[in-house]
Amino acid sequence: MKNTKYVHGYSDREASRLNDQAKTLDNIIHDDTIFERNSIVLEAGCGVGAQTKIIATKNPESKFVSVDLSEESILEAKKNIKSLGIENVEFRQADIYSLPFEDETFDSVIICFVLEHLHNPIQALRELKRVLKKDGIMMCIEGDHGSTFFFPDSEFAHRAINCQVQLQKQSGGNSHIGRELYPLLNSVGFYNISISPRVVYVDASRPQLVEGFIKNTFTAMIEGVGEKAIEQGIIDNSTFEQGITDLYRTAESDGVFSYTFFKGFGTKM
Ligand SMILES: C[S@@+](CC[C@H](N)C(=O)[O-])C[C@H]1O[C@@H](n2cnc3c(N)ncnc32)[C@H](O)[C@@H]1O
Repeated sequence: MKNTKYVHGYSDREASRLNDQAKTLDNIIHDDTIFERNSIVLEAGCGVGAQTKIIATKNPESKFVSVDLSEESILEAKKNIKSLGIENVEFRQADIYSLPFEDETFDSVIICFVLEHLHNPIQALRELKRVLKKDGIMMCIEGDHGSTFFFPDSEFAHRAINCQVQLQKQSGGNSHIGRELYPLLNSVGFYNISISPRVVYVDASRPQLVEGFIKNTFTAMIEGVGEKAIEQGIIDNSTFEQGITDLYRTAESDGVFSYTFFKGFGTKM
């Protein structure tokens, strides 16, 4: 099944962006993605397996069931994981809103960069909670585009970023969802909730993040929505182009870029 509403689409470029993003952010967002030995973990919205390969390798004693709505992504994810020789993951095509699992099947559930795309994150979290065992841990990781600031600052760049925000809103998502993780987990009835901001701060002294985050993750993501945004009249071509140029400008030797992800843990009563 192809979810045509998913704002980033399913191109090869997007698959490679997701892989770059995961590799770059590994230490920042997955330093504590550690599950108890012998856990059965559901990864909801695994995409092409970009996070899967990191979390499955970090937790060799756990078994992962990784699901996504897109059959195409699942096929790609299977190929990726197999080529890496990772054997503790089983993939399934499934809809987060209606999971093909019994109540209380999993010891933990992880969802990464997915709630921001869903029209009803509360309903999704309820369904994820249903399949979680009592005392099981829910782990959510999301970005928040409102947390983006950079030097040199540029109105054009902010307007280009706003295209992503608008398009995501149009397809029912919320690119500012990171700041809502606490209220979301709370409203679904998780307890022991703990949220931590994960700041990605980049300047020229961190060349890996200049390439991996400013260029290949963030700016590539904004660039990817340009055509659609221009087509829909959200922005004109030259403003968008200038915005992208100015975002790349922050990757130069005097540039600075900062973005905050949020990671939330909650326990099921
Ligand atoms: C930004 S990608 C993130 C993929 C992966 N978690 C990562 O970080 O690389 C969002 C994924 O959520 C999936 N998705 C969106 N709605 C879904 C739904 N209702 N059920 C399952 N997966 C869904 C999309 O197909 C897409 O693969």
